Amino acid sequence: MKLDHIAIVVKDLEEAVATYSRKLGVPLESRQRVEHEGVEIAIMSLDNTRIELLHPLENNSGAANFLEKRGEGLHHICLEVDNIEALIQSLQIAGLKLIGTKPRRGYKGNKAIFVHPASTNGVLIEFYEK
Ligand code: CO
Repeated sequence: MKLDHIAIVVKDLEEAVATYSRKLGVPLESRQRVEHEGVEIAIMSLDNTRIELLHPLENNSGAANFLEKRGEGLHHICLEVDNIEALIQSLQIAGLKLIGTKPRRGYKGNKAIFVHPASTNGVLIEFYEK
């Protein structure tokens, strides 16, 4: 299992990209709108992983609710797995609370599922099929 990315929810995407790229020296890899999730993201590239800056486009998206309740900061970590269907089964058997029961499409179209932070010590975890 590998860390695929760490996602940070931000109020202003332009400003956050400028901070991470120019001030911290983390290069911008790509930007895209993920319409079905109601977010715009900027992928910042590190040697061994990525930082995803996540900005809500709609007021009723999950990311918008998060930003309103908790402010800017760590939103989720994403772990890469080989077989998401098998993983979902084992998470369910282990009694973890999943967000949805079927994989959704992640930012590159790959299958992803989220585990509720109540089950994982307060951190939202995304699993993403390679
Ligand atoms: Co993610």
